[in-house]
Amino acid sequence: MNVLDAILTRRSIRKYNGIPVSIEEIKDLVRFSMFAPSAVNKQPWHFIIIYDKEMLEKITQFHPHAGMLTQAAAAVLICGDESLAHTPAYWPVDCAAATQNFLLAAHGKGLGAVWLGIYPREERISAMKSLMNLPVHIQPFSLISLGHTDVPGRIADRFKPERIHLNKW
Ligand SMILES: Cc1cc2nc3c(=O)[nH]c(=O)nc-3n(C[C@H](O)[C@H](O)[C@H](O)COP(=O)(O)O)c2cc1C
Repeated sequence: MNVLDAILTRRSIRKYNGIPVSIEEIKDLVRFSMFAPSAVNKQPWHFIIIYDKEMLEKITQFHPHAGMLTQAAAAVLICGDESLAHTPAYWPVDCAAATQNFLLAAHGKGLGAVWLGIYPREERISAMKSLMNLPVHIQPFSLISLGHTDVPGRIADRFKPERIHLNKW
């Protein structure tokens, strides 16, 4: 799949078929995530791969839109490292780029994935920090639910020419 097709046909996938995803497959997706752009190339991210079904179930107890985790093969928590970021304002931006890279790579490999928002919701951040035992300088940013899927990618037409402005607003 070329990159343009991948961008157009990636969709959030919340239904999985139960086929396991290996740790090597997930590490490979993380590798693509780590190729994302970041401010001053600081790459201020960490990735926690979660296979533990009990952990995944616990996340559904505090995250209101994460029910699909009970069917997921695994999840990946993308975290920002405040001690590595260019300035405190940049780690969420960098982690967003890493999250999108992960989603596109998963789609490119034929896996289904969906971005579950953690940052900037305080209650999800603090619940995730305590569940994952995160050090103070590590901030949970996004959780990606992942699995093999039978749901095909499809194009959703979102092009809005009226949102394009030439030279000035
Ligand atoms: C910051 C952010 C937070 C999101 N949080 C959730 C979530 O908690 N649960 C969920 O099912 N989808 C979540 N999504 C996925 C969006 O619902 C999805 O991207 C959007 O509906 C567009 O659909 P698409 O990804 O298929 O193009 C989130 C997406 C983003 C970018």
